[in-house]
Amino acid sequence: MSATNERIPPTQTNIDSQTHLRGESLYLDDIPILTGTLFGACLGSPVAHGHIRSIDISAAEAVPGVIKVFTAKDIAGENEIGGIIQDEPLLADHEVHFCGMPVAFVVAETWDIARYAMKQIITDIEEHEPVTCPRKAKELGMLIHPPRTHRLGNVDEAFENCHYIFEGQADSNGQEHLYIETQGAYAVPQENGQIRIYSSTQGPTAVQKAVSKVLGVPQHSIEIDVTRLGGGFGGKEDQANTWAALCAMAAHHLQVPVKYALHRLDDMAMTGKRHPYSSDFKIGLSEDLKILAYEVTFYQNSGASADLSPAVLERTLFHCNNTYYIPNVRATAYPCKTHLPPNTAFRGFGGPQGMFVIESAIMFVAEKLGVDATDIQYRNLIQTGQPFAYRQLVDSDAQNCWHAAANAFNIGQIKKDIAVFNEQNEHYKKGMAIMPICFGISFTNTMMNNARALVHIYSDGSVNISTGAVEMGQGVNTKIMQVAAVTLGIHPRKIKILSTNTYRVANTSPSAASATADLNGKAAQIACTALLNRLKEVAAQQLNTTELDHICFKNGLVYLDDAETALTWEAVVMTAFVQRVALTENGHYATPKIHYDKATEQGHPFAYHVFGTSITEVTVDCIRGIYDIDSVKIVHDFGESMNTGIDMGQIEGGLVQGIGWMTLEEVVYDAKGKLRSNALSTYKVPDVYSVPGTITILPLETDKDNMAILKSKAVGEPPLMYGIGSYFAIRNAIKAFNPNAKIALDAPMTPEKTLMALYS
Ligand code: MTE
Ligand code: HPA
Ligand code: MOS
Repeated sequence: MSATNERIPPTQTNIDSQTHLRGESLYLDDIPILTGTLFGACLGSPVAHGHIRSIDISAAEAVPGVIKVFTAKDIAGENEIGGIIQDEPLLADHEVHFCGMPVAFVVAETWDIARYAMKQIITDIEEHEPVTCPRKAKELGMLIHPPRTHRLGNVDEAFENCHYIFEGQADSNGQEHLYIETQGAYAVPQENGQIRIYSSTQGPTAVQKAVSKVLGVPQHSIEIDVTRLGGGFGGKEDQANTWAALCAMAAHHLQVPVKYALHRLDDMAMTGKRHPYSSDFKIGLSEDLKILAYEVTFYQNSGASADLSPAVLERTLFHCNNTYYIPNVRATAYPCKTHLPPNTAFRGFGGPQGMFVIESAIMFVAEKLGVDATDIQYRNLIQTGQPFAYRQLVDSDAQNCWHAAANAFNIGQIKKDIAVFNEQNEHYKKGMAIMPICFGISFTNTMMNNARALVHIYSDGSVNISTGAVEMGQGVNTKIMQVAAVTLGIHPRKIKILSTNTYRVANTSPSAASATADLNGKAAQIACTALLNRLKEVAAQQLNTTELDHICFKNGLVYLDDAETALTWEAVVMTAFVQRVALTENGHYATPKIHYDKATEQGHPFAYHVFGTSITEVTVDCIRGIYDIDSVKIVHDFGESMNTGIDMGQIEGGLVQGIGWMTLEEVVYDAKGKLRSNALSTYKVPDVYSVPGTITILPLETDKDNMAILKSKAVGEPPLMYGIGSYFAIRNAIKAFNPNAKIALDAPMTPEKTLMALYS
């Protein structure tokens, strides 16, 4: 693939790899602690739903070393941190809405004292019955906002003409982000009422806004700085705000630095996760298995406040067809308010939950009719020029990915080999499933699709770049550096990517929606191009030409008519500096062409779509109910990857995270709304044994123009959805053992459920 493309700079090495390897990369906890720093601990509500009668902090404040215990009444500004809907207090005021909801913030001389004192706080809460089930919440009218419906064609009429109609239910569970670095922040007061906050956040501007509101201080006084995250996966798009606001409130009030990083168990109990969904589907097909009508109702378990749920819900609707063309669709989604921690962004952002239901519906039909689900999938792949329910006409590579996978991996042979294996083995059964994907790239909220980059060229020719992009392991800094190196024609070593800072780059969208490299990379490209054009003018004078088009910068040298000159990058920069040419530029990028009208639920919300097809093979041990993911073979639509190492890593990581969601990871709350899967002993995440035996990734060869940065399509989220194939592959293996197995469409397919299903 494009590793050989000459647009790519001499090195694609991840710029973090050396410091990562040496343990020198800086995370929040590596920031040296200033003398006088205090440490926080946050008390979470012990009950899921109730009325606060009193909070007695006297014993806690009496603990030696405790400086102050903050409660809602200490908030100087607004007690409100909701981003989309203003429904989320920073500290519980009169009511508690979920177990772990922040109630009080203890600040003490040490972390241990703070935690000890926190346990001395006495809360008197009149308990009410919690609601944890989204369907029950809907019945009770507990919705975050009214339902939304996407429509195409006329479903009711279409069902009348269907040869086959089936109805069923499909549920998917939540997922713990389990970023290696837990949530946290370190707030340091500056002069004149300003405050600097180091935050482990994907959304520095979101943190800035929340802090500004809580302190009642304008945004220009709030500096958020992020070097990198030890993972975010969506969990820090909005939910880093709480901890930063608590630290900032205490630091501002006491005028000393305050730090708080969550204990892993608190992080698991207090923060929201991927949204569980319960869904009803009705699907109608023609005799030749074309899907003619699809009606689906999603019950999103939103949790106790909106957080990002409305946006997540929107993306569920956008992706409810997955990669299939269905002429008649009615998809309705309810954001159901429950007494659980507010659920939030998680890789795929509601898309995977939507796709799981259509895949379940197809599998349901296949099992009822005794046909192969892959036949139904293949016949319904969307083609270029066909619309989704939201009306965007698709430039489709669905068929191309499928065909490339079918040819490269010989699907026919895989099916035959599995049949032979299953014939010959009584206690082990193999299964396979194909998972074609289509994921829209852009924030679904059009307004958010913009970014800025601030580029400085110093007089020695070295370059610094600041953008709104947050590095969280996905390699975005390396990609931005590549963009700058290619644009300026200099070696990547000449370029440093700085921390993400709200004083240098303002009003940023979070690093999310897989769009960070596209948005911030394009902003950097715009800034670098403007600088380059100025430098070309300087070089032109020096080379006595007026033909700017004939000049180019490459490998740190100036070329005239493709011939190397004696002029170096450094010499041109120095001359420009002496001539008082501006060597700083701010680039602004706003994705063109996209628009969406929420009133009609129609528009063109995505810059482009990413396609792919995966084939998953599994072996189920039918005595024990355990299974191995033998292999996953993928054809993925990279566009033209600008960094194959990083992009392959994203696919492998996303895939395994998706497999975890679909097979192992079981978020369990009890009827009281308490998290039972509250530690790594009770919540199983993928380990080396859950990783597929082999992962093969082939690029789809395309030379299409797309709107991606350097044509290198966004890759952060789409691969997670390849993991959905593991659920259906296991299901197929179970059916090979017990054709009459009764298996609810209810993910994850844990070994326990697998065992029950084998003998059902
Ligand atoms: N990869 C790593 N290593 N760590 C992360 O936290 N987050 C994922 C994905 N890949 C994540 C990751 C999510 S949820 C998104 S939206 C994208 O990266 C965000 O980065 P991008 O926009 O640069 O792809
Ligand atoms: N994706 C991810 N994060 C978001 C989105 C989206 O579409 N919209 C708002 N935050
Ligand atoms: Mo990713 S869920 O958009 O942070």
